[in-house]
Amino acid sequence: MDHLTDFLLQMPKIELHVHLESTMPGWLLERFAVRQGRTLPRAPEELYHCSAEDLSDFLGFLDRICSYVGTTADLAEAAEHFSAACREENILYAEAILNPTHWPQFSLPDIISAVTEGFDRGEAAGGADCRFTLSLSRNQTAEEADALVSAMERCRTPRLAGLSIDGNEALSGRTGDRFAPAFARARELGFGLTAHAGESSGPEGVLDALECLKADRIDHGVRAAEDPALLERLAAQRVPLNVCLSSNLALLYRDPREHPLRQLLDVGAAVTLSRDDPMFLGALTLTEELRRAAVFARMSEAELLRCQEIAVDAAFCGEETKAALRAALEAFRSQS
Ligand code: ADE
Ligand code: ZN
Repeated sequence: MDHLTDFLLQMPKIELHVHLESTMPGWLLERFAVRQGRTLPRAPEELYHCSAEDLSDFLGFLDRICSYVGTTADLAEAAEHFSAACREENILYAEAILNPTHWPQFSLPDIISAVTEGFDRGEAAGGADCRFTLSLSRNQTAEEADALVSAMERCRTPRLAGLSIDGNEALSGRTGDRFAPAFARARELGFGLTAHAGESSGPEGVLDALECLKADRIDHGVRAAEDPALLERLAAQRVPLNVCLSSNLALLYRDPREHPLRQLLDVGAAVTLSRDDPMFLGALTLTEELRRAAVFARMSEAELLRCQEIAVDAAFCGEETKAALRAALEAFRSQS
């Protein structure tokens, strides 16, 4: 194993932008499909060889993937699997995004309790400490957003960390005003707030996320680089940008040289690095994602470690958990 990969494997890692919908390997989905008396459209190892041309295609593909998860016991198993898989590569803490619109077979209370149970079991068995945000789709209504926040309030568990929003802003247009009341209510209830923006939207989407939704963090945010003043503001205000290089190279930038990761680091933006949709990206590990980022943007080991520290600062967990994560990073730094 080369030195960089070994360093990254050993480094304690924190991941803040990963969709639970895209963490279930083909073999696990085959197991779920069999329980429903269904068969997968392709062999499990080829399940993710889909031809998603763009984000909308890809989101439809996720709907089909999630349909194989037939019971809340399956959903808990999927969450438990994610926690165990994280630990295998030394991800100590992760926040997964779950968008209930991909899971029409389950009620909101059932989703919250199943994912909580799966993450509890995973951590008890030595897996990563995982939390989750529930995510709105950009094409939902204000009423649906309000209902999601009400369910979060009623069914709150310690694993449920926040509210997020994802989906295709190129199709929905600006929706900041529509979702502002739900985000404000979630904030009052003490939930963390994160928003996909600056991927299928340009800088205006990032501005909406900051000013209408009052998001604590931005998922992606890379297209903020198209507006130098906005980029400066993000850096000055230390707004965390949860950047996903491989995902962006697959779905967003035709020419890899357009990706602004190096620029974001150079202006001092609060960059964290995540996988977004690991199974869709060839069962991508976070170790491999970080290796690619390191090579692509000529990141030093110190910069890679710094991204983990920024992720701890940005995480939607309590100070005790953050202190333990910082201690693990410090121990690694002093021995490496
Ligand atoms: N949901 C899952 N992956 C996504 C992405 N890359 N952008 C927006 N919504 C998503
Ligand atoms: Zn995402």
